[in-house]
Amino acid sequence: MGDGTSETKSSNQMWGGRFAQGPAAIMEEINASIGFDKKLFAQDIRGSIAHATMLAHQGIISTEDKDKIVHGLDTILSEIESGQFEFSRRLEDIHMNVEARLATLIGPAAGRLHTARSRNDQVALDFRLWVKEELQKCEKMLTDLIAAFLDRAEEHAETVMPGFTHLQTAQPVTFGHHCMAYVEMFGRDRSRVRHAIEHMDESPIGAAALAGTGFPIDRHMTAKALGFREPTRNSIDTVSDRDFALEFLSIASICAVHLSRLAEEIVIWSTPQFGFVRLSDAFSTGSSIMPQKKNPDAAELVRAKTGRINGSLVALLTVMKGLPLAYSKDMQEDKEQVFDSAESLELAIAAMTGMVCDLDVRADRMKAAAGSGYSTATDLADWLVREAGLPFRDAHHVTGRAVALAEQKACELAELSLEDLQAIHADITDKVFDVLTVEASVASRTSFGGTAPSEVRKQIAWWRARN
Ligand code: ARG
Repeated sequence: MGDGTSETKSSNQMWGGRFAQGPAAIMEEINASIGFDKKLFAQDIRGSIAHATMLAHQGIISTEDKDKIVHGLDTILSEIESGQFEFSRRLEDIHMNVEARLATLIGPAAGRLHTARSRNDQVALDFRLWVKEELQKCEKMLTDLIAAFLDRAEEHAETVMPGFTHLQTAQPVTFGHHCMAYVEMFGRDRSRVRHAIEHMDESPIGAAALAGTGFPIDRHMTAKALGFREPTRNSIDTVSDRDFALEFLSIASICAVHLSRLAEEIVIWSTPQFGFVRLSDAFSTGSSIMPQKKNPDAAELVRAKTGRINGSLVALLTVMKGLPLAYSKDMQEDKEQVFDSAESLELAIAAMTGMVCDLDVRADRMKAAAGSGYSTATDLADWLVREAGLPFRDAHHVTGRAVALAEQKACELAELSLEDLQAIHADITDKVFDVLTVEASVASRTSFGGTAPSEVRKQIAWWRARN
């Protein structure tokens, strides 16, 4: 980016008519957004081509000028794409950098492009187009992540593991069922993405500075040309609104929270103490001092990126809060938050998809852990309700006594003798041992959405049909 130091300090060539002198150096520095909004170059040029085409169609500019403008804009696009374009900070932002270059390339016709528009509707358009494309990218990436989980869930529909509440062993579940929990979470993220695309699918261009314009423009034509469903309905709201950016950041924040919870589980599961999974070499690092170590750095960084993304949401909410209608320059601070979050989110989803695909699941360790911690105690209580007709509260109490006895004998529930159990409740028979294994426990939970392999397979099929 040119820093403007070689340029003379005259007033701004785009808006400097009433200014006798140029900006203070520090004014230029605080005002300029080109350092980051150059990312919007393709959207800016696309928007300008649609606008110029509409202006000519409506007889507001001549076809000859329109052709020059479109040709010039095409040239600028390839200049930027090939790295030949010189960005200037004195020209503030992407909009004026492109327009100034257009003037150099095609002369006075360039001055007609800005008829019936303002940078206020222009930036709203460019940024919306960018966010919409980013959301479409996220939709695809989430689909890939969901697909990775569906494959692991299918593979492990019968692999038992402990289910936790309070990170204490609760009841046995299957690893497939646990994977499907993440499918639900990322599925919700994806539907939020789809709703946001719907919400923001309105074209801002033609709102002009804030009040609309007296030129006979056709906003439906530009909306259609730019792939929007329709134009926005209130010109004041159009240039004041950054809901689409806030929605992007909210969605990104919730999704990052999901990714972070998964990252945390991977960190816990890969410890030698848990040993539920082994990290692939591709997604872990070694220690420079402790040769035995394999660290889950990728998972930890995914967990940490959540901080940046959540921070961006709070930052932009705070920028927007208390802004009077319509446009204020504060809103220029919207882009870096969104760009940074988009980059972090894409990285985090991609890294997680890789980790999920590569995860080496240690079914033996999961199974061993699934049976410890009296995880089938609820199954014993349920058996007492079903087979001995006890009210659940009483069954809970009886089971508690059996757990206490097993604890005292340092054995599992299934290792208690029938006599031991009958001493606690006379109606217990040897049939009870059928429900005390982890496999039986898991297989019995056939309620809709439950952990039984048969049920998990049904949910996998439901998602496969929708992914
Ligand atoms: N760079 C500005 C932004 O990002 C463009 C809009 C400027 N509009 C204005 N009236 N100064 O918000």
